[in-house]
Amino acid sequence: MTLLRDHDLTTAFDHAAPAYDRLTAANPGYHADLRRSARRLRLPDEGAGLHLLDLGCGTGASTRALLEAAPRARVTAVDASAGMLRRALAKPWPANVRFRHLTAEELAADPAGGPYDAVFAAYLFRNVTDPDAVLASVRALLRPGGRLAVHEYSLSGSPLHRALWTAVCRAVIIPAGTLTGDRDLYHHLWRSVLAFDSAPAFAARLARAGFGGVRTLPVAGWQTGVVHTFLAGSGHRGGREGGR
Ligand SMILES: C[S@@+](CC[C@H](N)C(=O)[O-])C[C@H]1O[C@@H](n2cnc3c(N)ncnc32)[C@H](O)[C@@H]1O
Repeated sequence: MTLLRDHDLTTAFDHAAPAYDRLTAANPGYHADLRRSARRLRLPDEGAGLHLLDLGCGTGASTRALLEAAPRARVTAVDASAGMLRRALAKPWPANVRFRHLTAEELAADPAGGPYDAVFAAYLFRNVTDPDAVLASVRALLRPGGRLAVHEYSLSGSPLHRALWTAVCRAVIIPAGTLTGDRDLYHHLWRSVLAFDSAPAFAARLARAGFGGVRTLPVAGWQTGVVHTFLAGSGHRGGREGGR
């Protein structure tokens, strides 16, 4: 099976949106790991005065994590899927959060976008057709000293973690996704993780894109070696790089 991309992927997320929160709630650590990655941005003063971007916000799980890490920040959350955004918008949000229907590829040309003090992208980069182009847009939208946190299924490179990922997909993720009528999307999830950069390769990709102080951190639980947080600074002069 080829991977889902662009319009086909968005259509699959539109279809999966009604069951998305139920499936992620059944994944131990999904929300805790998002909160951990958002906190790793170490945003000062609860985010007061900062403008943050949640890129690929989906139904708002990553937006909520970002908001918990920085409740006083202004948060812009964007996603390509109208169906996922509808689910996000149906939830209660404070006035400092806004949602926009926009693709990552459209960001660079978005007149209302940026600059941002930090960008959070959870489970996005594996899905984009040209991650280098999106990274370039993100870097251009970051203020000097701005930070990026990417939270992603990116395997450690160990055969053990690769085998674990395939076993979990075959035993749990694809059967659960099939029950909700979204087999293609969850099959894509399995294959896209196998095809995506390993954690060291994605860290190197970030450095090649000009980000500074790139760091790779593990998450806890069964996702150890399967999901990582990548922290980086904008790489522009004068910035404090990468967070801690
Ligand atoms: C796996 S979901 C993750 C959602 C959310 N960040 C979370 O942590 O729960 C990936 C999201 O990325 C969005 N997405 C995929 N490709 C995109 C693109 N090129 N531009 C914007 N959003 C995209 C999908 O529509 C989907 O909502």
